[in-house]
Amino acid sequence: MAFTLISTLLLCLLSFLFSSVNADSETHIVKFDNQCGYGQPQLIQGNDVLTTTEYQFNSSYSGIAYLQTGNCGFNGENCGIIEMTLDNPTVSGSGSSADISYIPPLAYSVPYKFEFYGGCDGSGASCTSSDCSEAFFQSDQTYVQVACQTDNVT
Ligand SMILES: *[C@@H]1O[C@H](CO)[C@@H](O)[C@H](O)[C@H]1NC(C)=O
Repeated sequence: MAFTLISTLLLCLLSFLFSSVNADSETHIVKFDNQCGYGQPQLIQGNDVLTTTEYQFNSSYSGIAYLQTGNCGFNGENCGIIEMTLDNPTVSGSGSSADISYIPPLAYSVPYKFEFYGGCDGSGASCTSSDCSEAFFQSDQTYVQVACQTDNVT
């Protein structure tokens, strides 16, 4: 059984849990912990807001999340976003990765943090200001992407 879990925190504060629970039936959980006291977490897939709290995928997922503070566009414009691809490495051989992005028209908004758990524990990134070395400001800064390809066999 593979189990990969990412907790993404907006320090203001939003938390995502990304988990891949089973090698045979792929599962990923994204969980927010918004400690801002304002704003609404948004987990986006295509044209849909999937949740503002927690969501379980039973297949791979690629999308974005951000804290809607009032002036963010649907795809996070004017705000920072967390981009994530959640994929079970035992199925696809690729695994999961996530990053924080401020590539225009995105921009720093509030502190964000994400972390993997249940495999790649503690791997993640955080940004508490617009002067952050752990986020994309330009598309060639691929070193800010945090990957998790570990199967945590339990
Ligand atoms: C995934 O499976 C769980 C348990 O059966 C279910 O509660 C959940 O709604 C499913 N998620 C989706 C996106 O269908």
